Amino acid sequence: MAAFRRITLILLVSLTTAADETTFIVRLQHDAKPSVFPTHTHWYHSVSGSSRIIHTYHTVFHGFSAKLSATQASNLESAFGVLSVIPEQVRHLHTTRSPHFLGLKTSDSAGLLKESDFGSDLVIGVLDTGIWPERQSFNDRGLGPVPLKWKGTCVGFKCNRKLIGARYFSAGYEATNGPMNQTLEHRSPRDSDGHGTHTASIAAGRYVFPASTLGYARGVAAGMAPKARLAAYKVCWNAGCFDSDILAAFDSAVSDGVDVISLSVGGVVVPYYLDAIAIGAYGASDHGVFVSASAGNGGPGGLTVTNIAPWVTTVGAGAIDRDFPADVKLGNGKLIPGVSVYGGPALAHNRLYPLIYAGNEGGDGYSASLCLEGSLDPNSVKGKMVLCDRGINSRAAKGEVVKKAGGIGMILANGVFDGEGLVADCHVLPATSVGASSGDEIRRYITASKSLPKATIIFKGTRINVRPAPVVASFSARGPNPESPEILKPDLIAPGLNILAAWPDRVGPSGLASDNRKTEFNILSGTSMACPHVSGLAALLKAAHPEWSPAAIKSALITTAYTIDNRGETMTDESTGNSSTVMDFGAGHVHPQKAMDPGLVYDINSYDYVDFLCNSNYTTKNIQVITRKHSDCSSAKRRGGHSGNLNVPSMVAVFQQYGKQKMSRHLIRRVTNVGVGNSVYSVSIRAPRGVNVTVEPMKLVFRRVGQKLNFLVRIKVEALKRLSPGSSVTKSGSIEWSDGKHVVTSPVVVTMQQPL
Ligand SMILES: *[C@@H]1O[C@H](CO)[C@@H](O)[C@H](O)[C@H]1NC(C)=O
Ligand SMILES: *[C@@H]1O[C@H](CO)[C@@H](O)[C@H](O)[C@H]1NC(C)=O
Ligand SMILES: *[C@@H]1O[C@H](CO)[C@@H](O)[C@H](O)[C@H]1NC(C)=O
Ligand SMILES: *[C@@H]1O[C@H](CO)[C@@H](O)[C@H](O)[C@H]1NC(C)=O
Repeated sequence: MAAFRRITLILLVSLTTAADETTFIVRLQHDAKPSVFPTHTHWYHSVSGSSRIIHTYHTVFHGFSAKLSATQASNLESAFGVLSVIPEQVRHLHTTRSPHFLGLKTSDSAGLLKESDFGSDLVIGVLDTGIWPERQSFNDRGLGPVPLKWKGTCVGFKCNRKLIGARYFSAGYEATNGPMNQTLEHRSPRDSDGHGTHTASIAAGRYVFPASTLGYARGVAAGMAPKARLAAYKVCWNAGCFDSDILAAFDSAVSDGVDVISLSVGGVVVPYYLDAIAIGAYGASDHGVFVSASAGNGGPGGLTVTNIAPWVTTVGAGAIDRDFPADVKLGNGKLIPGVSVYGGPALAHNRLYPLIYAGNEGGDGYSASLCLEGSLDPNSVKGKMVLCDRGINSRAAKGEVVKKAGGIGMILANGVFDGEGLVADCHVLPATSVGASSGDEIRRYITASKSLPKATIIFKGTRINVRPAPVVASFSARGPNPESPEILKPDLIAPGLNILAAWPDRVGPSGLASDNRKTEFNILSGTSMACPHVSGLAALLKAAHPEWSPAAIKSALITTAYTIDNRGETMTDESTGNSSTVMDFGAGHVHPQKAMDPGLVYDINSYDYVDFLCNSNYTTKNIQVITRKHSDCSSAKRRGGHSGNLNVPSMVAVFQQYGKQKMSRHLIRRVTNVGVGNSVYSVSIRAPRGVNVTVEPMKLVFRRVGQKLNFLVRIKVEALKRLSPGSSVTKSGSIEWSDGKHVVTSPVVVTMQQPL
């Protein structure tokens, strides 16, 4: 009996220890490997002791990941050769007419697609939920042999000359969650979610005609770089995307030979040396690989942007000039605008249905108002049109709840936080989405109506040439940059609302388990959809300019982005209908044709990034975790630098006003001529209101292509009166260099902060 008890006790202790272990990513100093170890892997195994190694990293990072207790982790921090022990974060997904809208026409012989031979030697690595290889978008008809440089492999299914690589990374996921349930997800690069298939085909899906979802968005579907090759790196699983796996995918993608990495995943913002995505992206960019990442869907509030490292291109989402109107008609004759891509049996023509607000029915008004599972009483819902509020469960799941309770249709109303931004979904019953103020109006109508309140939904299909467009999507995450306020984020926006792209057979278009419909394409929204647009474009730019660095490609995208919509006014913000700002769209909306020939670029090398990190007051050790190089910050400090001097195209000055009357900041920039040999650029300045901006010199005379010239921007401000403690004011303007042919635009952003 006593012995039995002791065994139980021991078992309990070891169980507790196992539960207390979490995954850490351990960074070692590459050149510190003691010679007794024949390889770095041997050394890592020795350092990790009894802990089982999850992944080892060799290309973008030096080290390994393992499950460790807090004590083991802190002991390791002081072990020989260990630079840093980084706790793992779990990330989440940031859930076709767009090529046309962007001006990528095949008939245009001088266009981007032609010049770059459609990017056929370029490889885009998509780190996501995997891929459904049998889609037409990934067919390899007419493509040449796989590029010679390619060193990747394909596991789980057969690849072809379009989809040239596929791997999966699940060791980190399974180390935390236990073995995955293979009934629910594929233990292979095959996509059991849909997100990865969708994003991959946005970046590089081939031409497919006719393409549509349930009859909506009919036309030709094509990715941004229809001939570029794809490699799928599956890092996201049912419980999320684990840092240890993401870093392993970066490592593998770079050594496989990708040119571009597309990552529509994000998490909590932490300093760059603790951020596996920032670290992996730095390593990739140092190997010449362009990395674009989604900004996140935390908008429209400020400070919500993620994936903010300066070497990442951070992409927000805009609405294109296509929508799917599905208006609500109320019993009083009033028409209320909504959107939907519902494709099932139609509602009876010219008939109004009894209308209820789910929140007025049943016991628990709160769960009923949101149409949560089991919250609706079939007796009050049967045969009715039901108004549900957005939030908690997915938009499509609400439709399923209403349908199960016998409802005839659903009107989905935004909450105050969602504002007026509308997202079209593939619902399982006739349904439409309306803005927050429209939701209020419908609720008022229900309450005030003397007779029985009634409504129907009028589905109008696909509408094109919508004005205004583009518009900043309501959900698109906003600046300022929480880690480096001097680096403007998001960098730019690209189409991310109601985007048509490929979809796996395994998942119905609504994403619900009960939805057995199969579609070749589906319409989704999110900065997840915006990011691969930029990834595909980056591949086209690199195909046309093989010598450009990732920073040069990013500069070309940024200095040619536009902020004026198709009405000739500043782009509006979908959440308010008011003008949007640099904190919403960064440099503006991407303009592929112009990005092809930007004239000048702001280039950045790895020493510049070290100076930036030094000037951001990171320690030498922290900098080495990111850059894998020994760095000496004294020279960066000696050069009198500040973090605003990183050679990015945008120019941001943040002033703390301690009652000072006048303050000034100067920013140094260096431009490289990538246009015409003999050219003279003159500057024109549009200063933010109340700010003095000067540029020296005001003319740049280039003699040859590749020549670099410096200039200095001086920003002078006067302290603002009546700025309450802790608050701030941001203003923006721009400077433009032009040689008469090219216009190279930089946003100039000034923020005045009143300290607490
Ligand atoms: C895996 O998922 C299926 C479907 O939900 C379930 O029936 C089965 O019990 C699960 N298996 C395990 C081992 O959890
Ligand atoms: C939007 O514009 C309206 C009308 O001009 C104004 O009342 C409102 O404060 C603005 N909203 C925001 C968020 O700026
Ligand atoms: C770095 O430290 C210096 C000296 O304390 C300070 O003046 C500067 O503002 C700091 N920079 C950043 C980006 O925190
Ligand atoms: C900006 O320039 C004007 C005109 O030269 C001058 O009157 C003003 O004081 C300057 N403001 C600042 C903040 O330097």
